[in-house]
Amino acid sequence: MATMERIGITKLRHHHLLLVVLLLVVAAAGGVGSVQAAEEDEMSGRRRRSRRRRAADVMVPITILNSAVDKGAVCMDGTPPAYHLDPGSGGGNRSWVVNLEGGGWCNNARTCRFRTASRHGSSDHMERRIAFTGIMSSAAADNPDFHSWNRVKIRYCDSGSFAGDAFDEGLKLQFRGQRIWGAVIQHLLDVGMASAEHVLLTGCSAGGLAAILHCDQLRALLPAAATVKCLSDGGLFLDAVDVAGGRSLRSYYGDVVGLQAVAPNLPETCTDHLDATSCFFPQNIIDGIKTPIFLLNAAYDVWQIEQSLAPNAADTSGTWRVCKFNRSACNASQLQFLQGFRDQMVAAVRVFSESRSNGLFINSCFAHCQSELTATWNGGSPALQNKGIAKSVGDWYFGRAEVKAIDCPYPCDKTCHNII
Ligand SMILES: *[C@@H]1O[C@H](CO)[C@@H](O)[C@H](O)[C@H]1NC(C)=O
Ligand SMILES: *[C@@H]1O[C@H](CO)[C@@H](O)[C@H](O)[C@H]1NC(C)=O
Ligand SMILES: *[C@@H]1O[C@H](CO)[C@@H](O)[C@H](O)[C@H]1NC(C)=O
Repeated sequence: MATMERIGITKLRHHHLLLVVLLLVVAAAGGVGSVQAAEEDEMSGRRRRSRRRRAADVMVPITILNSAVDKGAVCMDGTPPAYHLDPGSGGGNRSWVVNLEGGGWCNNARTCRFRTASRHGSSDHMERRIAFTGIMSSAAADNPDFHSWNRVKIRYCDSGSFAGDAFDEGLKLQFRGQRIWGAVIQHLLDVGMASAEHVLLTGCSAGGLAAILHCDQLRALLPAAATVKCLSDGGLFLDAVDVAGGRSLRSYYGDVVGLQAVAPNLPETCTDHLDATSCFFPQNIIDGIKTPIFLLNAAYDVWQIEQSLAPNAADTSGTWRVCKFNRSACNASQLQFLQGFRDQMVAAVRVFSESRSNGLFINSCFAHCQSELTATWNGGSPALQNKGIAKSVGDWYFGRAEVKAIDCPYPCDKTCHNII
């Protein structure tokens, strides 16, 4: 399996034995959905390792929101939703970063049931404390603009980017992302966010997509005088053609949207003229969102390369198996294919970028999620026009400068922290 190959090549460490065993179980089950789940678990493993390096990171305790159960706002297995809040201090007291956790999706009975035994489907399996790093950090040196704000991470246990609302009788599974979103946001309003002056909704990966989907919904719940903006990190999932000429991610999203009854919760500005699956793709909704959005994404998003462009099911001959985990091993035609993907991303944000209130940081790195890691957020962060990611997002949020940065094509950028 490609995912394991990748571990073999780049990540072999003894404490990964458990993960490898998990991946074997997942691999045995087969299918793109379970590969995605495993991939995301591996991503979070990477995050955990980077946390461990910094003893100063504050561990933030979980709050289980039992009162949400009455509203039907529950994780896939029926357990209550949860969040982690690190209260603001001083000048940040009336400012809030609201972070929607990511972690893939599930698209059928097998992959969804699998996730109920994990933190992505049940609060019974969530870590009791997590480290807040990058844009979530309380350290001024790591997070200059947002460190003193109230920072809250809403845990992801619905597998539908907080947008589904269904109960599957046959599977006995809850798909209540939209209710979780509503219940946790209402709770946060009750504990102080209703008088917020500044709010930044953020999230990476499936959470980055969720931040786009819910951006105008949050705006509507906050006082008109509050500044509300949204940051999507690694959430620009494209409706792209894969290496076999099909559309792997569109087909997968079609399953997710159908299974979880996502359609009623998608932006009407999209669903009034496109099908629901299309409206789960940011490229079809970003132009219709009124609240300011910042899109932070690697042009060579490694999750999309591995799972959307060259998943095993599309790469039957295995010619992408090495290249998709190691850009140095790609041949000229493969690199050209990846450049075509970058071109699509640039085209997808063209109209979006014409709005003065929006922000953009599309760097030519092989990465996925760059705002929650200490190393990619600030300090030696990847830079465009000599400006790192934390500074770019801060300048956009506070209106200190317009930020519309699109990198030149690979391999021109020497500031990348490439993952592959
Ligand atoms: C902000 O500070 C006030 C006064 O110290 C306190 O009562 C309130 O709970 C704080 N709000 C938040 C969200 O921390
Ligand atoms: C490059 O890789 C593609 C598969 O993506 C393969 O079809 C092609 O033969 C390779 N070209 C060379 C020159 O190796
Ligand atoms: C990536 O591919 C290059 C070129 O084939 C090779 O030299 C290098 O060792 C590979 N890196 C890893 C980590 O496998």
